[in-house]
Amino acid sequence: MISVDYLVIGSGVAGLTFAVKIAEQFREKTICIVTKTDEEESNTKYAQGGVAVVLDFQEDSFQKHIQDTLIAGDGLCDTSVVEMVIKEGPKRLTDLICWGASFDLDYNGKLDLGKEGGHSEYRIAHHKDITGYEIETALLRRINQLPNITLLNHHFAVDLITEHQVYKFDPDNISCYGAYILNQKKGNIEIIKAGVTILATGGIGSVYGHTTNPTIATGDGIAMAYRAKAQISDMEFVQFHPTVLYDDKEGQSFLISEAVRGFGAYLKNKNGHRFMLDHDERGELASRDIVSRSIDNELKKSGESCVYLDCTHLHIDDFRIHFPNIYDECISRNIDVEKDWIPVVPASHYLCGGIVVDRNGKTSIHNLFACGECSRTGLHGANRLASNSLLEALVYAHNIYKYLCSHPGQQVSIQIPDWDDQGTHIDKEHIFINHNSKELQALMNDYVGIVRSNALLMKAIIHLDLMYKEVEELYKRSKINTTLCELRNMINVAHLIISQSLERKENRGGYFNIDNISPKKILENYTS
Ligand code: FAD
Ligand code: SIN
Repeated sequence: MISVDYLVIGSGVAGLTFAVKIAEQFREKTICIVTKTDEEESNTKYAQGGVAVVLDFQEDSFQKHIQDTLIAGDGLCDTSVVEMVIKEGPKRLTDLICWGASFDLDYNGKLDLGKEGGHSEYRIAHHKDITGYEIETALLRRINQLPNITLLNHHFAVDLITEHQVYKFDPDNISCYGAYILNQKKGNIEIIKAGVTILATGGIGSVYGHTTNPTIATGDGIAMAYRAKAQISDMEFVQFHPTVLYDDKEGQSFLISEAVRGFGAYLKNKNGHRFMLDHDERGELASRDIVSRSIDNELKKSGESCVYLDCTHLHIDDFRIHFPNIYDECISRNIDVEKDWIPVVPASHYLCGGIVVDRNGKTSIHNLFACGECSRTGLHGANRLASNSLLEALVYAHNIYKYLCSHPGQQVSIQIPDWDDQGTHIDKEHIFINHNSKELQALMNDYVGIVRSNALLMKAIIHLDLMYKEVEELYKRSKINTTLCELRNMINVAHLIISQSLERKENRGGYFNIDNISPKKILENYTS
């Protein structure tokens, strides 16, 4: 058993930023970060576009960024949270720069600011098209310099420790005492006791078969918090990114950043028509929900497999300077951006909802905080504005740290029972797990996509229920392993997405259910 002051679950921008701040402030406190694969593997590592921050106060203003965020969120953002996050932006970007992350400069030596969908001004600070990698590596470098941080990679958090495991359970008064952690190399479950636990476990993209997220994004933190009875909300607002490189082969997908449209690329159908102008006066730079839905509409009308990003009118040398990674990836797939259109389709990208937190990142469970993509802060409402996610993680990591400076957690003195795996066996049913994961991902693609209906959602929930029962049974009789836990978590997350979708009776932002609109409107939608 390990006992620490702070247990951080996840090593993306949210977890690492919090850990650096608290470790620098309290050199005598112990911080343990657990992460389920190599330490840099995270959604953060793949972020392309950048961090949305107001820096040019001549053209831009906090008010404009606030307004853009509120419009994208379609009336469901918490305005006071939006104001707080956006006004904190410049300071939190400075933190990253102080820790050694570099951002591109323009010819005048000022930060070069890009533009993305839904933004009325140029305000995206970026490091070429690999901003996330730059942030992740800078944070890990800083972590390695701090002796009071222990980073355990290949350690998978299985479940939070609450009264549920310890003694009598009162659903209105739950506290967290740390987590049960699977040491993936040794195969045993370890207890990490902590005065304060921070969930920074990232997104849920892998619940869908087609996603921009790496395979680690299985919603573990949300599922753990849900099982521990934390409040979870806004799960119906799964954001689909409009432009993922279309490839009919299976494998890790590749994002074509929205910044490419901000740079001037056109979205066209096979006939060369710039269809976005038919849907929104902002054209290619409408917010993500509108662009994804318009592409979905275009594909359903035409029966084609993809639409295209046309960059052939852009200055290719500038394109290569701004987007070297995208350029190289296209070349490796025989797409010459200078001459060829890039085939693209939407894919699941980001979860706007998650574990409900207040402005200090506190969840509804005592001593449990959540930060980053797994949390629901109220910033995004029904649809996240591009590049507001890294910003949110940076601001909330800081808020949690500030809160803990004045409310330091207590050491855990209670006895925690060992993980009980009596009567379980080493599971040999890898094919079953693999098969069920694929089935779940197909189900979410087909029934819980960009355009939903009550009938499809009901079909999905019935199917999911069967899967849930089978997997729970297997879980109870098996020795724990990562893929089984991930499948169990993905089923929990899928359940939350579907059930909260069924509860929503009005379409907002990224949520669109044909049963929430009049038949006349449906017809207009598909004939326009
Ligand atoms: P992550 O970075 O995903 O980190 C989660 C961590 O938790 C990982 O280390 C993971 O291994 C670990 N973990 C998960 N479960 C467990 C477990 N059970 N036990 C132990 N460890 C666990 N946002 C922007 O603002 N700007 C962008 O330009 C941008 N581009 C993007 C491009 C792509 C391709 C993707 C996928 C996302 C992009 N986003 C962007 C979104 C943004 O990157 C993420 O929302 C953000 O990085 C999430 O950070 P995080 O720290 O919350 O989670
Ligand atoms: C992108 O670069 O298009 C992704 C930006 C984001 O998800 O905010």
